[in-house]
Amino acid sequence: MVFSSALSAFVLALPLLAVNAARTKRSLCPDGKNTAVNKACCALFPVVDDIVDNLFTNECGDSAHGALRLVFHDAIGISPTAGGGGADGSIATFNATELTFPANLGIDDILDDLGPFLLKHAATVSPGDFIQLAGAVSLVQCPGAPRIPFFSGRAQPKAASPPNLVPQPTDDVTSILERFASVGFSPAEVVAVVGGSHSVAGADDIVPNFQGIPFDQTPSQFDTQIFVDVLLHGTNFTDNGGPQSGESETAVAGTVRLQSDGLLARDPRTACTWQSFVNEQSKMAEAFGAAVLKLSFLGQNQHELTDCSEVIPQAIPVNFGPATFPPTKSIKDIDESCNTAKFPDLRTQPGPATTIAPIPQAESTSGSSS
Ligand code: HEM
Ligand SMILES: *[C@@H]1O[C@H](CO)[C@@H](O)[C@H](O)[C@H]1NC(C)=O
Ligand SMILES: *[C@@H]1O[C@H](CO)[C@@H](O)[C@H](O)[C@H]1NC(C)=O
Repeated sequence: MVFSSALSAFVLALPLLAVNAARTKRSLCPDGKNTAVNKACCALFPVVDDIVDNLFTNECGDSAHGALRLVFHDAIGISPTAGGGGADGSIATFNATELTFPANLGIDDILDDLGPFLLKHAATVSPGDFIQLAGAVSLVQCPGAPRIPFFSGRAQPKAASPPNLVPQPTDDVTSILERFASVGFSPAEVVAVVGGSHSVAGADDIVPNFQGIPFDQTPSQFDTQIFVDVLLHGTNFTDNGGPQSGESETAVAGTVRLQSDGLLARDPRTACTWQSFVNEQSKMAEAFGAAVLKLSFLGQNQHELTDCSEVIPQAIPVNFGPATFPPTKSIKDIDESCNTAKFPDLRTQPGPATTIAPIPQAESTSGSSS
């Protein structure tokens, strides 16, 4: 009895295995070097190699951070009422319009850096695909970040995004959640995608006269430290005489906190999700990865795109320890904001308080630094 049902399960499984094998059979690309299951993806390998070597230079630095920010600022440009094409590349093609939007402050420098690569590969990759491809490849420059799928085939953008669709750091939690909800994101997805991305991020523009001011202690690691640092009681960014518009107080010298991040970490609608990511690396990376993939499909029909995830290099594994309190800080310094769960136990980093160094700035090809 047991034997025969096991056998029939085995026999039934065979055709499935055969189909699976056919689907995963890799063939050699025309370059004679790479292999792909889907030959249509072959042309992307040289694009990926170029941006890894020459744009990101194998680092989770300013260019990689900029590419990730661009994913969001392109994709969120869609609304059920105002229209827009979402993840369509309009922020590049219609930069003359979209860069005038206040929320796109700093995107000019990112396009100066990434734009030449987008234009160089324009015959192979549409602007919408390039931005999402660069975003997926930027993540695998960052230790701890997920390797997310990449789908190819976005059409050329038709028009600029309507204005006022990109959230601003001065926005309150209600308007941020409403903006995201209108394109299908739950509050938990908002926390994952905003907090996770700002783990590998900093401000190049909103702190006057300073560039590369990190949002957490570890801007080159995709870790959960941001979820701790943003919940600490504030002292001010030491070098600029207190918070400017859109910033709020921060507890680690050399870092700056976006007002919107500080609010999301403390609001009753989002605080428990925010805290739930503290020291939960794989949970955070997974939730973030799923939410970024969702961004990449805004305005697109996944079924009309081709899965070219195979061109994305392997992720860099976690090469860092657990989240910690910064030196001299402890649970006493945390604004405990979740009523239903205790803040996790963390170790305090030894030694005196430190100042976090700025993120070195990418040199844009066009030399603009406005
Ligand atoms: C409520 C939503 C969000 C707000 C208000 C916001 C705001 C900001 C601001 C003001 C900056 C600094 C800009 C500068 O001074 O140069 C920034 C940086 C950044 N943001 Fe966001 N952001 C949000 C969501 C996201 C999302 C969803 C992503 C990606 C999926 C993202 C990725 C980044 C990255 C990677 C940077 C660093 C860029 C760099 O270092 O060059 N942000 N964000
Ligand atoms: C920015 O817009 C100009 C035209 O307004 C265009 O020539 C240029 O190619 C655009 N940049 C990118 C990266 O698409
Ligand atoms: C930070 O700066 C703001 C405005 O400049 C000020 O009101 C606040 O007291 C400062 N906080 C600390 C802890 O220094």
